[in-house]
Amino acid sequence: MDEPAPRGSIRLVHGDARRLDGIADRSVELVLTSPPYPMIPQWDEQFRALGATDYPGMLRQLAEAWRACHRVLVPGGILAVVIGDALRRGEDGFRLWPNHAATLLDAERVGFVPLPYVLWKKPTNRPNAFLGSGFLPPNAYVTLDCEYVLLFRRGPLRRFPRHDPKRAASRFRREERDRWFSQVWEDVRGARQAGGAGRTGAFPGALAERLVRMFSVVGDTVLDPFAGTGTTLWAASALGRHAVGLELDPQVYATLAGEADRRRAPSSPGRTGAAGPRTARRRPPRPPSPGRASPAGA
Ligand SMILES: C[S@@+](CC[C@H](N)C(=O)[O-])C[C@H]1O[C@@H](n2cnc3c(N)ncnc32)[C@H](O)[C@@H]1O
Repeated sequence: MDEPAPRGSIRLVHGDARRLDGIADRSVELVLTSPPYPMIPQWDEQFRALGATDYPGMLRQLAEAWRACHRVLVPGGILAVVIGDALRRGEDGFRLWPNHAATLLDAERVGFVPLPYVLWKKPTNRPNAFLGSGFLPPNAYVTLDCEYVLLFRRGPLRRFPRHDPKRAASRFRREERDRWFSQVWEDVRGARQAGGAGRTGAFPGALAERLVRMFSVVGDTVLDPFAGTGTTLWAASALGRHAVGLELDPQVYATLAGEADRRRAPSSPGRTGAAGPRTARRRPPRPPSPGRASPAGA
């Protein structure tokens, strides 16, 4: 049986997604991230700290991050943004704040090519959650139970040498392709990451693993500029990609660095890279060996 690809390195930066300082131009093959969602109360304080108090201001902060992602991606590199819309009272009453649509347009404005996106129907323990007034039309609201995986490319398609061994080592199976490249995902149920979605906005590891396998190859660099609990980083490293994560919040960063340390411990099955107070980096044990690598994580 094929062995999995060797783990990739993990580098952490205590920094700002809007600048991506220390990340070189055209050095990243995949950005996989989930930003703070505009108009979700959980993130109000962070947006205020960034100088944004209204919806256009919040979107402007995120647009800066999309611009920085465009700078660091290689030509043909992919940006995948997991984001949900918000329902909240505004001056015109209770209404939808269309984060996915705004992000699509903002990313296009900074130079990305929009691609078909995924509707991720999230597992819920409140299947019948309903906002409205009994059974009388017309004033009830459709339940928001999907998030979006928005997909963009920097420029034209990425090119590979013929029979590129790292690409071949990253192939997916027919059954995976048919399921993963359909537009509605109802089968991603993996456990939420440490801290719980309510407090951290973490997405399931299974979601990160699928997207890493769909849009990068073994040996690539995968960046999460809003790293949070590090879901993207752990998935990317486990699948033989090099992971880079930025996190601005000092407390969240400290927890992230601690988790990287824990995974680095020789006995840990999740062994990863080094972590320090500001940046941390560890080279992988050895470069991916195409002859030994299986379809990563298959
Ligand atoms: C929705 S959470 C990301 C969750 C992550 N996908 C996970 O699975 O844990 C957004 C994260 O971005 C961080 N953040 C907010 N503004 C930031 C900025 N300007 N630069 C870097 N990180 C930022 C927040 O502290 C938070 O941890």
